[in-house]
Amino acid sequence: MDSKKMTKEQKYELLVAQVSSLLEGETNWTARLAETCAAIHDAMGFFWVGFYLVEDEQLVIGPFQGSVACLRIPKGKGVCGTAWKQRKTLIVKDVEEFPGHIACSSLSKSEIVVPLFNAENEVVGVLDIDSDELFTFDETDAKHLEEIVKILNNSIGFSTK
Ligand code: SME
Repeated sequence: MDSKKMTKEQKYELLVAQVSSLLEGETNWTARLAETCAAIHDAMGFFWVGFYLVEDEQLVIGPFQGSVACLRIPKGKGVCGTAWKQRKTLIVKDVEEFPGHIACSSLSKSEIVVPLFNAENEVVGVLDIDSDELFTFDETDAKHLEEIVKILNNSIGFSTK
């Protein structure tokens, strides 16, 4: 089917299957993160897709697709640091309305951040996606991106909440 005619739900269903198949048998963490963000970026056309990984009390940038971005984010800061601290997915429909939002690019208008958990149920990183349009993300994105993060984690022995 022409991807321009597909609904968001249909695009995510294909993407989830694609990520599952791409990651099969690959145990290297960097390879898995890099491949996953490229797959999401290609399938959904989002402005910026990437991972930030926990190191001490900060998030450090990991594999991503898009323009250069902030290298480090302290716990509790910005949308990413808040999703880490609150241990839950955050949907920001308008970044201007989120107190403390960190603007890596003035083109970023809305955002979703999904935490990654390890087997001890600690946050080990976040998946961060930015859109150059307002109101891009909703519960459909949250549901499928959480599913993708589970696939990413599970087959290397990480668990999610
Ligand atoms: N906007 C994010 C920072 C990371 S960039 O969007 C890539 C935040 O507020 O945490």
